[in-house]
Amino acid sequence: MKPYLIAPSILSANFTKLGEEVDNILAAGADVVHFDVMDNHYVPNLTIGPLICNALRKHGVTADIDVHLMVQPVDDMIKQFADAGASYISFHPEATLHVDRSLQLIIDSGCKPGLVFNPATPLQHLDHVMHKLHHILLMSVNPGFGGQSFIPQSLDKLKIIRALIDQSGLDIRLEIDGGVKVDNIRAIAEAGADMFVAGSAIFGQANYHNVIQQMRSELALAN
Ligand code: DX5
Ligand code: ZN
Repeated sequence: MKPYLIAPSILSANFTKLGEEVDNILAAGADVVHFDVMDNHYVPNLTIGPLICNALRKHGVTADIDVHLMVQPVDDMIKQFADAGASYISFHPEATLHVDRSLQLIIDSGCKPGLVFNPATPLQHLDHVMHKLHHILLMSVNPGFGGQSFIPQSLDKLKIIRALIDQSGLDIRLEIDGGVKVDNIRAIAEAGADMFVAGSAIFGQANYHNVIQQMRSELALAN
C-alpha cells in the first residue's frame, strides 16, 4: 500500500477567505486539496469552477489539487481545469458519453485521471479502462453536499475495489469521499482506501492540525 493521503474538501471551507483556508489546511498537514465542482445539473448544487482553481494557483498554492467533477457533460470542464492548474481530475462515468475519451483527455492534458463511483454505480465501468486510471474515487455518500453521513455499505464496496486493484497489479490509488471522520477513518483504511477526503470533519473544527493528527493516529493503527 502507498502512504495514506489526507485530502480536505474545501467545500466546507470559509469561501470568504479561501486562500487563507487552503494555506492553513496545508500548514496543518493536509497532503492534497480536494476541489468539488458541482453544476446544478449532474448534482442539485452549484459550487466552484476553474476560475477559483486558477485563483488558488495564483495565490501560491503548490500542493496537488484534486478536482472532483460532478458535472455533465464532462469534456469541456476537463480542458478548463487542466488549464487552471488541476493536478488530478476525476469524473463520474455515467456523466460522459465516452469514458475512454474523457480519460484520455485528462491524460493528454497532463493531469492524473480518476473515475468516480456513486454508492449505487456498478463497478463494470472499470472494465477496459483500469490501465488508464491514476485513482478510483468511491463516494460514500450521494454526491452534492458536504456534511452527510457515511453509508456503511461503502466498506464492502471498498473491499471489492481494493481486490480489483490488487488483482490488476496496477498502481491505482483508492480514494474515499463522504462522511469520513476521525472515528471511522481506521475502518475505512482497513477496507482498502489509501486516500481520504474529509470536508466537514476537518473544517468544522477550530484546530485543523489537531484533527488531521487524530486522523493520522487512527490510520497508524489500521492493518
Ligand atoms: C460531496 C463531495 C464531498 C464532500 C465531502 O458531493 O464530493 O467531497 O464535500 O464532505 P464531508 O466530508 O463533509 O462528507
Ligand atoms: Zn468530492
